[in-house]
Amino acid sequence: MRPIFVCASCARRRASAPFRCRLSAKPAACRNERHEVPSHPPTTLSSWEHVRREPSPAMKPPPKATEPPDRSARGNPPPATAGFPTARDVPPERNLGSYTTTWALPEVHALSMVFADVNAVNRAEYPTVATLERECLVRLGRLWSHPGGTVVGCSTTGSTEAAMLAALTLLRRWETRTGKAGRMRPNLVLGAGAHACWYRFCRYWGVDCRTVPGTFPGFTADPGAISAHCDRATIGAVATLGNSETGRYDPVAGVVEALDALEGRTGLAVPVHVDAASGGFVAPFVQPELSWGFELPRVRSVNASGHKFGMTSLGVGWLLWRGAGDCPDELLHSAAYIGDGVPAIGLSFSRSATPILQQHYLLSHVGHHGYSSALAECRQAAEAVAALLARHPGLSLLNPGLDLPVVSFRDRRASGVVQRLSAAMRLRRWAVPVYPLLADPEHGTAGRVVIRPGFPAPLLRELLTDLATALEAA
Ligand SMILES: Cc1ncc(COP(=O)(O)O)c(C=O)c1O
Repeated sequence: MRPIFVCASCARRRASAPFRCRLSAKPAACRNERHEVPSHPPTTLSSWEHVRREPSPAMKPPPKATEPPDRSARGNPPPATAGFPTARDVPPERNLGSYTTTWALPEVHALSMVFADVNAVNRAEYPTVATLERECLVRLGRLWSHPGGTVVGCSTTGSTEAAMLAALTLLRRWETRTGKAGRMRPNLVLGAGAHACWYRFCRYWGVDCRTVPGTFPGFTADPGAISAHCDRATIGAVATLGNSETGRYDPVAGVVEALDALEGRTGLAVPVHVDAASGGFVAPFVQPELSWGFELPRVRSVNASGHKFGMTSLGVGWLLWRGAGDCPDELLHSAAYIGDGVPAIGLSFSRSATPILQQHYLLSHVGHHGYSSALAECRQAAEAVAALLARHPGLSLLNPGLDLPVVSFRDRRASGVVQRLSAAMRLRRWAVPVYPLLADPEHGTAGRVVIRPGFPAPLLRELLTDLATALEAA
């Protein structure tokens, strides 16, 4: 057990005391509390230390985050931890199923204070937010091979909102192309690994969902089958760069090729959206040779989540279209009493500006080199986990850490080994999700281990030891 000092006012954690409270200008006002932490949760971000921050001449340094305004006059400070996690909760860093950031760089956390009170929708009042958002979109455009010219895009609450907006633009463009709906019910063609948000779109907006069986073992899209499911009522096809169940990528270039051939044969032009919620922040850094983005002319829009491999600590989604024509003007809307009067696309209004600032910092200062080395480390860790799981005769790997740094596996003989493994890991305070493979329930029960950036080396060693023990018992 190592002592750690936690400030009762601002929750800042340090290995030694005293230290300056984040919320008070006066160090004396900081009421440091000593906490004992169990030996297993990480207290350092050791694996981040090699991540070189790249100063970018094109970008201004982020606002100074270390001296936030004095908020001590605002009543009682919140309790340092609100009692979380309790014995029933899994500490977030031990949640192996999640794709969402559970460690952020200390600077990223510190930036949270700068925009804590800033609503991203108040663009007239905070033009800086609009500038930072624009610069993020331009950088993402470069990463995703946008052909240049004006980058048309927006930030959102997450990939779900981005997916809804992308699909709405496909729907509106299809209605215009075909002379308005009414006579035909539109459909959206999805690979087997498409995320649930696409099914939600179909349900909410009255669009038929055509799910195409995937290719075993990664349940990735079969390009020929995708094109075979398209017809005149198809508003578009969705390819997923990193499906949530297995972590494998759909062959986007193959899907585009099959749809090109379909257009050559029938004249039917089916646009493609790439749901790169996770892969949009992985592929450009560790698989630069892969062709999946705007370099493929049929790809009309791409989305990604900042709070997954984009490494922000709070939720933000990003959506880019190829050109202005892909985002019909009629979906742009302004409300006179909010914002800067510039028509914009979105499903919600109020949200925090913090993740936009965090993303801007990460893209400009952690930069290409930082993302590449953090993700290369994730892949190495995933390979070590895969090597261990591969030794169990009752398990077969769906993904040994290829594509996303995810190891997914299934019960080879329906003998309950995945459930037993998950239960044994839970006793050690690790969460390993167990789920029937939506893509193909006949292939049994699956589980996954997602290695996220910042997974500290000591925690990885503990994970490998606990997995080895749990596998023996399973
Ligand atoms: C491929 C894919 N699309 C969409 C989503 C939804 O993302 P969000 O949670 O950012 O709304 C996820 C979430 O895991 C995902 O993996």
